[in-house]
Amino acid sequence: MSDLDRVLARVDADFEAALERWTDFLRIPSISTDPAHNADTRRAAQWLAEQLRELGFDASVRDTPGHPMVVAHHPGPGGDAPHLLYYGHYDVQPPDPVEEWDSGPFEPTIVEGPHGRRMVARGAVDDKGQLMTFVEAFRAWQAEHGTLPVQVTAFFEGEEESGSPSLKPFLEQHKQELGADVCVISDTGSWDVETPALTTQLRGLLYTELVVDAPDHDLHSGLYGGAVPNPLNALGRILGQLHDDQGRIAIPGFYDAVVEPDEATRAKWQALDFDADAFLQGVGVDAAGGEQDRGVLEKIWARPTCDVNGMLGGYTGTGAKTVLPARASAKISFRLVPDQDPEAAAEQFRAYLHGIVPAGCSWELIVHHGAPAIRVPTDSPYLRAAREALENAYGREALLIGCGGSIPVVGVMKEVLGIDSLLMGFGLADDRMHSPNEKFEVRCFENGIKSHVALLDRMARGVGT
Ligand code: BES
Ligand code: ZN
Repeated sequence: MSDLDRVLARVDADFEAALERWTDFLRIPSISTDPAHNADTRRAAQWLAEQLRELGFDASVRDTPGHPMVVAHHPGPGGDAPHLLYYGHYDVQPPDPVEEWDSGPFEPTIVEGPHGRRMVARGAVDDKGQLMTFVEAFRAWQAEHGTLPVQVTAFFEGEEESGSPSLKPFLEQHKQELGADVCVISDTGSWDVETPALTTQLRGLLYTELVVDAPDHDLHSGLYGGAVPNPLNALGRILGQLHDDQGRIAIPGFYDAVVEPDEATRAKWQALDFDADAFLQGVGVDAAGGEQDRGVLEKIWARPTCDVNGMLGGYTGTGAKTVLPARASAKISFRLVPDQDPEAAAEQFRAYLHGIVPAGCSWELIVHHGAPAIRVPTDSPYLRAAREALENAYGREALLIGCGGSIPVVGVMKEVLGIDSLLMGFGLADDRMHSPNEKFEVRCFENGIKSHVALLDRMARGVGT
């Protein structure tokens, strides 16, 4: 048996135990945005460090002003084997609305679906299940060969779902220690359950909050309504002017820096067998939103957006209350594409607001975080090697795809460490990321582990230049 086949057989033999370990990890409610879960978030970091220690890594939990980082090193075989930096995030999104879950978000449950078993829990796919695919690949390789075939640094953060505030300073402070040839991330999707994919384009994100104030306290809407500006009415008018009738973002200059995908990329995307109707029906809608003259894949992968993520203000309890609220606010986020600059987009938005906030209202725009869109070079030897590894594991050609989501670390790795990332993910479009009943197919988990085993094997043979 080859080195690779021995490790793959080990993955099969140890698979139920791997599911147990994944389940233990999912039980920890590491919700980074909720300070009530700070201790749980740290516990998830410690759990990961312990896993890696078992596998021969020198692993530690490092404090930051926010949630801790986990850094772990494995020397590999020595010599001139490549050095891979694996990144994952151990924090998860809040589970709300909790009442919409069929089982507890932190009580991982295996249920049957059309692709066989699936694990249902918050973080099942994003990102605990996915990061466990490479941790389990390390485990199987280590168990079979007593070492890893390449030098590995594992780096996990606990703030990805809250905008990664500590990430850049941490990377800057540990630039030497975290240096590697290439970064490997499993936090994206495959094309479908049978077809592997590498993501070569991610959207960026600008997350803002608009606060509109008018009277200095809540008023009786009969005594004051009509004469005093209502911040909620004003907010409604403002939000109504964010898009034009064609679904384009109405902020002047917003599209100036947008780069249209080139013809080759467009042709590749068109050749993908994508069923837009099924995609929409999968989430219970029968017509596409957004720009009317663009296809669904193009909209998600290559066009910017402006979405209201939440609104606050006035009376939201049961029954009726005739109130003219003093304040209204909205969380408004923008997905950005190459080559938009988050800071420039924020300034354009601010300038637009100056002109459209109704008289009598004061306002403030808070910028929570921003990250530019990412393009991964498609001609790199590392990407070629990763494609080969995926093909080997799936027995099918790996597609190069885009992704509408954002993973801020990819840009920071490039900027601070000067390295590119391989976005090798195993999620499916219907995994309900960030939603109730988030799941990850057990088959995707298994394919993920085997793909990472194949990647270790492929990288160990060198990638050339
Ligand atoms: N894993 C996701 C990114 C993603 C989304 C990949 C959809 C594939 C498909 C990641 O954890 C995430 O949700 N990122 C946030 C980033 C933000 C909080 C800075 C996002 O995209 O909203
Ligand atoms: Zn994620």
